[in-house]
Amino acid sequence: MEQITIEMLKSKKDSYIGKTVQVTGWVKNYRESKTTSFLELNDGSTFKPLQVVIQKDGNTKINNETLNGAMHLGVAVEVSGVVVSAYHNADDAEINAEKINIIGTCATDYPIQKKKTSLEFLRTIPHLRVRTNTFMAMMRVRNALSMAIHHFFQEHGFFYVHTPLITGGDAEGAGESFQVVAPDFPGDFFGAPASLTVSGQLEAEEAALALGRVYTFGPTFRAENSNTTRHAAEFWMTEAEAAFTNLDGIMDVARDMIKSIIREVLAKCPDEMAFFDNFYEKGLIEKLRNVADNAFARVDYTEAIEILKQSGKTFNYPVEWGVDLQTEHERYLTDEYFQKPVFVVNYPRDVKAFYMKQNADGKTVAATDLLVPGIGEIIGGSEREADYDKLVTVMKARKMNLDNYRNYLDLRKYGSVTHSGFGLGFERMLMYLTGITNIRDTQLHPRAVGELR
Ligand code: 4AD
Repeated sequence: MEQITIEMLKSKKDSYIGKTVQVTGWVKNYRESKTTSFLELNDGSTFKPLQVVIQKDGNTKINNETLNGAMHLGVAVEVSGVVVSAYHNADDAEINAEKINIIGTCATDYPIQKKKTSLEFLRTIPHLRVRTNTFMAMMRVRNALSMAIHHFFQEHGFFYVHTPLITGGDAEGAGESFQVVAPDFPGDFFGAPASLTVSGQLEAEEAALALGRVYTFGPTFRAENSNTTRHAAEFWMTEAEAAFTNLDGIMDVARDMIKSIIREVLAKCPDEMAFFDNFYEKGLIEKLRNVADNAFARVDYTEAIEILKQSGKTFNYPVEWGVDLQTEHERYLTDEYFQKPVFVVNYPRDVKAFYMKQNADGKTVAATDLLVPGIGEIIGGSEREADYDKLVTVMKARKMNLDNYRNYLDLRKYGSVTHSGFGLGFERMLMYLTGITNIRDTQLHPRAVGELR
């Protein structure tokens, strides 16, 4: 007898009809009537479970005694039986069970129960919550989104580079890094203070100035003491860096990437996306289709400030030219004013990182943030300052230790060219794609201030 996955059974249904097969999985649901019992089984290979029909007429080798009471959510079973077309949907398959073995019992204090459990409670059991529909769907979308990112960059001439996780400098200059120490080692293990990366950008720039177009995709760490629904201490970022490309050019790449990854996830995960649309954000799929098919807005920071001032809203953080945009400002721009993704460009120099290209006005930098409805910022990027003297002047003004950035400065001495890049917060993109509103619910084990389960 062939042992197959539920995915094989469903996707190649026609070739299995009438055959006897064996599947294994966990019980998602079990209900009984007088003559028949129904078991919903999932082995993880598909999002939707397989229905197993058990006739209690004594003709099968199923020991009803074993089933009674023992068959409930979480139990692992091995089922063999004949594949038939599903009673309620001829396109789907189900199994008429002939034999059922319990291969893993599940204690009755199993914390995952059929009734909808709150996401807050599920955060206390990260090792088990992954079995719920929400997290099964999330992990599947996470997988599809990871692949979609690779597909986009690979198809557009970007090389995947692996930048170090242990670094000497603070790429963003924001002082939000975790220190790396070897407690029993005398002195600094690396001969200098080391920290976990806050961004692979500085090393990606090195690679871009040789390979032309590169991207990174990996874990990123920030010791931000902001306990919000959008900040994690460990998250994934994909960063693109392109030589011979200015701000407009890199914004085109960012826009094309967002559209492409949305399309791919919608195509690869129809059941999961329908689930999120149904249970987390009504109209989600239509929203995403619109984003994939329509132009993004673009606004200068200076104009955005005017829009906010004229909004008639009272913000907690007052709006003045020169302030960094807070979430409440970003949300007004995206959710109310533009009602679609918007690139804000040319921010004041002083609210942005040291490496951004200084504009001719002497006040702003060629930076962009992509803001999306419901979330706010998902991408931060810029053209890089390619002029050695200008970069050194800014770094000195910020009292940065130039010795820590010798490699970076060398890039401006040897064949420096216009280049630009951006970073997409992977979990923020997942929030946007799924309608899940807390970043902690996009990861297997979220890491945030005071949270290390
Ligand atoms: O805007 P950020 O800080 O930009 C950089 O790190 C640049 N080096 C990128 C580049 O130009 N190569 O971060 C980029 C994105 C943000 O837009 C946000 O989506 C995400 O990373 N991000 C976070 N996501 C989750 N938790 C956090 N604490 C995050 N901080 C940033």
